[in-house]
Amino acid sequence: MNNSPPYNAAKAEYFSSFLMDTLNKSALSFMLSIGHRSGLFDKMSEMDFATSAEIARVAQLNVRYVREWLGAMVTSGVVKYSSESKTYYLPKEHAAFVTRQAGVNNIAMAMQNAAVLGEVEDEILECFIKGGGVPYSKFHRFHEVMAEESGQIVLSSLETHILPLVPELTHQLKTGINMLDVGCGSGRVINKLASLYPESQFTGMDLSAEAIANGKEEAANLNLNNVEFIRKDLSDFDQTAPEAEYDFITTFDSIHDQGQPLLVLQGIYRALKKDGIYLMQDINGTSHLEEDKKHPLGTYLYTVSCMHCMTVSLAQNGEGLGAMWGEALTKDYLNRAGFTKIKTNQLAHDIINNWYVIRK
Ligand SMILES: C[S@@+](CC[C@H](N)C(=O)[O-])C[C@H]1O[C@@H](n2cnc3c(N)ncnc32)[C@H](O)[C@@H]1O
Repeated sequence: MNNSPPYNAAKAEYFSSFLMDTLNKSALSFMLSIGHRSGLFDKMSEMDFATSAEIARVAQLNVRYVREWLGAMVTSGVVKYSSESKTYYLPKEHAAFVTRQAGVNNIAMAMQNAAVLGEVEDEILECFIKGGGVPYSKFHRFHEVMAEESGQIVLSSLETHILPLVPELTHQLKTGINMLDVGCGSGRVINKLASLYPESQFTGMDLSAEAIANGKEEAANLNLNNVEFIRKDLSDFDQTAPEAEYDFITTFDSIHDQGQPLLVLQGIYRALKKDGIYLMQDINGTSHLEEDKKHPLGTYLYTVSCMHCMTVSLAQNGEGLGAMWGEALTKDYLNRAGFTKIKTNQLAHDIINNWYVIRK
């Protein structure tokens, strides 16, 4: 028996328009990324209506490329165009979401991910056929973009929103505690904390040599002597974690990418002192498609998961949890690692993540 509904011409028409719109917008994401990276949005936000030659001169860029880019900006509606004077203008309401000055609201910054993921499309397609994963080493610019993203979402609100999730934390950091950031990437968060709280000691651990080198370089530039970076594969952290060493442990979007997330969490439990605090930022998916359909960035997050988070874990012969593993499974893993006191928080500026405060 065939249960499928009959062909509906109106639905087909609607779907073809949806695809055309998607084609336009997926192309636009590259142009938005270039607008961000080249500084064009930043420069245009300071200008009145101007010709392409004037914009190129101020941005110190090639005019032919700038004019073509402006074509995409005008046809998409991002930039206003006067056909009389042949001049272009970035409205203030748009600048509020595409410039560095916009800080946490700069959505153009995240558009860089399209190019980062696009670069591994061949390898991902091969995995669709053969299974396995694509390792970090294949992702050109991943750690650079990740550090920028982390700067925008985490650093910008570290003192105002994130540390206050644990009321006693600021006082403890001032007095002097031992903190570990697991899967620290380029280490921008601990470098910032190390400069804010000289009485405390900070350690960052990560698999990536490139990210660890970035962290060390920044720490040296800031003349920090209370931070250390350790390159380490944390897949055996349940065995290798130092016993009851740290008062405060963090993971910023790094658990679901691990090869062995449960063993890493068990290591965190072991490394945390009694009454210590573990702060975990992780994606607020649900693992249930009917729920994830309501997430404003659901499609984006499943795409990033398929082409990055899941695949880098599978490349380590790991679990490949995927970014959307969600709150229920996160709590289940935390319980299995030994944690029972878990509070889930959300921050208004960060619609992508949950912020779990976990006490030992
Ligand atoms: C999404 S990034 C987050 C980086 C950083 N916490 C941030 O917010 O910018 C995930 C990090 O987990 C690290 N990672 C993945 N698997 C790992 C493993 N087996 N051992 C240690 N680190 C690992 C990656 O190198 C990467 O830096």
